[in-house]
Amino acid sequence: MSRAENREGRLPPESLDAVEAEAWAFLEAGGRSFRAPFHSGVIGTLGAEGPSTRVVILRGADGPRRRVWCHTDTRSPKFAEIRADPRVAWTLYDEPSRLQFRLWGRASLHHDDALADERWAATAMNSRKIYQAVVAPGTVSPVPTTGHPPELDDERWTLEFSERGRPNFAVVETVVTRLEALYLHHAGHRRIGIHYGADGQRLSADWLVP
Ligand SMILES: Cc1cc2nc3c(=O)[nH]c(=O)nc-3n(C[C@H](O)[C@H](O)[C@H](O)COP(=O)(O)O)c2cc1C
Repeated sequence: MSRAENREGRLPPESLDAVEAEAWAFLEAGGRSFRAPFHSGVIGTLGAEGPSTRVVILRGADGPRRRVWCHTDTRSPKFAEIRADPRVAWTLYDEPSRLQFRLWGRASLHHDDALADERWAATAMNSRKIYQAVVAPGTVSPVPTTGHPPELDDERWTLEFSERGRPNFAVVETVVTRLEALYLHHAGHRRIGIHYGADGQRLSADWLVP
């Protein structure tokens, strides 16, 4: 994309069907590659103190099944929050195309099942390091720390050692019930909203005033 296009932003395809297809195609591509737009986004959860948001990597998306996935540590506050209240919202933004996606849905947690096993097996060794923290993410430390056990140094960082992180690894699956896309464009923005039913069927698709 050229610099001029960057400033102009992007216009949506002309039909709602095409906008929907494009949205899921972007999310699926973002979930597949760290080089693609929308490889990371913000997921919001609800806790005792109210809403809480944080950046996560989009680890996959499936348009026909209306699902998106991220990975997390079973000991993280977000894991407990989702267990208590599965309602989540995502925001993903690509600055070069000036395109924003917002998703709402219900999340389920997978840490001891076939989905978690499959995703763990596909998780690169380096990405497994964060699941080695000896205590829960967010625990107060008297000194700056990675949280890794002292015996985890590069020489001992083998595939076998990385398996120690498996009990802390979880997949968060969101079944999307609403999708919004906002296209910022210098000649006028465009926005759409789509609702999905519990079985993934499309209930409505509308152009919205941006
Ligand atoms: C670029 C980036 C990517 C991140 N990816 C993830 C991720 O995929 N999963 C995750 O649990 N945390 C990820 N984090 C860390 C979270 O933003 C957050 O700090 C951490 O998960 C603790 O969140 P919690 O205390 O609300 O559970 C990422 C942070 C950044 C900056």
